[in-house]
Parts: sequence; structure tokens; C-alpha cells
Amino acid sequence: MGEAVQVWRVPLLISDQAIARYAKCLSADERARADRFRFEADRRKFVVARGTLRHLLGKRFGCAAGAIAFCYSKYGKPETSADPSGYSFHFNLSHSGEIALCALGGDRTVGIDIEKVKPIQRLDSLLERCLVAREKAIVKSQPIEQQPSAFLQHWTCKEAYLKAIGLGLSQSMTTVEVDLNPAPFDSPRFVHVPDECAAGWQLHRIAVPETYVAALVVAGESAVDVKDWQHSD
Ligand SMILES: CC(C)(COP(=O)(O)OP(=O)(O)OC[C@H]1O[C@@H](n2cnc3c(N)ncnc32)[C@H](O)[C@@H]1OP(=O)(O)O)[C@@H](O)C(=O)NCCC(=O)NCCS
Repeated sequence: MGEAVQVWRVPLLISDQAIARYAKCLSADERARADRFRFEADRRKFVVARGTLRHLLGKRFGCAAGAIAFCYSKYGKPETSADPSGYSFHFNLSHSGEIALCALGGDRTVGIDIEKVKPIQRLDSLLERCLVAREKAIVKSQPIEQQPSAFLQHWTCKEAYLKAIGLGLSQSMTTVEVDLNPAPFDSPRFVHVPDECAAGWQLHRIAVPETYVAALVVAGESAVDVKDWQHSD
């Protein structure tokens, strides 16, 4: 099966001092992007998530976090060729609320998504837009207060796949169909993905605090190792 995919859970609310340290390793374009956030809280979260990603990649490649060079695919997926051996090193990032997840896939393509669970306005129209009939039926079979979470269980699996292939939400969510057992929504698998064999992609639930849901998609079979990132002050 090769090397395990690593997933790091990253707390986003940290001290000013730690944020200043992460800000130092960002590139000029990342700093400019950070400065464009309207809300300070969003600026801080972006800096922590990007800074941590840079530290993880730097450790992996044996270089300084600031030396990592990102480029972006047509739909904005960050990529890096900083690995000295020259092959692409696959990774992906997601943030929601107070947590980010960084997935390091190595030679395996990965996509990851985390969502904070909260009440959803106009859930029915989202169900129509994003889920296929069988998925909608599963969400609707849940008690009303559980439906946002049941919807996000599906959403995270679909978004993680669309992020793995780099298209993100430029592609309709209904092009991906997932099979989740009704609560607790464990053992998810793909029923259908666009233009590819669904069996080639593995879906994994990632353990996150109770008010979040998260999913990881990996190209092919792989063990997944989930760890907590400790910010140093
Ligand atoms: C990718 C996308 C789904 C992310 O949505 P989001 O709600 O911000 O979700 P997440 O927090 O899960 O993911 C954000 C991270 O995904 C990564 N990402 C960005 N675009 C990506 C893409 N196309 N595919 C995979 N990952 C992507 C980035 O690391 C980003 O974090 P950062 O910018 O802070 O480093 C959304 O931005 C999207 O659909 N983008 C592509 C479609 C599009 O038309 N983009 C227009 C700009 S080119």
C-alpha cells in the first residue's frame, strides 16, 4: 500500500506571537492575499493554515518553510514542486471554524474537506442542488435537527473528491454520488464519480470534534495517519 497519507488537525485560534511567526514564512503574494481579507479573524486563520502547511512541507523536504514555492492549477488548487527529486508532492488543505486539516498525500492525489456543523438556511434548496435522489432520501430520513449534519456528511465527501481532482465547485456536486450508511455515516464509498472508475478513489472519514464533519479522498488504497499539529509559542 506504500506510505500512509498523513492528515494534520491544525487549531486556528493561536497567539499573536505564533501568528507573526507564520506570517514571516509567507510569500509576497500570500501576504498580499492575507491583507485583502475584510475580517481580521479570517486573515489570521489564513496565515495560520498556510504557515502550518509550509512548515509541514518544509519538514518533509528538509527546507525552510519560506522556501516552498506554490503554483496554482486552472481552478486554484495549490501545488508544489519543491521536492528535490522533482516529482509532484500531493497535498490539500481545508479550513472551517477554528480548525484546518492538512493532508499530505506524497505520490497519491488527495482532496480534503472539513465543515463546521451549524443550522442551514434553505436546506431543501441545497439538497436539490447538491444531492442525488438516494442521498436526499437519507438526509430526509434523519430527525430534523440532524439534517444539517447529515447533509454536510455528504457535502464533505463530494467536495473532498472535487478538490482531489482540482475542479472544486466549478463542477456540479450532483456529478458525484456517495453511499453513506445512515447515522453514524461511517464507511463511506463512492457510487459514481465523473469520467472515472469510482473504485479508484478511497473515501475516509476523518475524526474531528463533534461539531465538525470531515472527509478525505485518496487516489488508490492507502493507510491514513491522523495527527494533531502543535503550534510552538
Ligand atoms: C476549492 C474550493 C471548493 C474551496 O472552497 P472553500 O469553501 O474555501 O473550502 P476549503 O477551506 O475546504 O478549501 C480551501 C483550500 O483549498 C485549496 N484549494 C483552492 N482551490 C482548490 C481547487 N480548485 N482544488 C483543490 N483545492 C483547492 C486551497 O489550499 C484553499 O486554501 P487556501 O487558499 O487558504 O490555501 C472553492 O474555492 C472552489 O470551488 N474553487 C474552484 C472553483 C472556482 O471557480 N474558483 C475560482 C477561482 S480560480
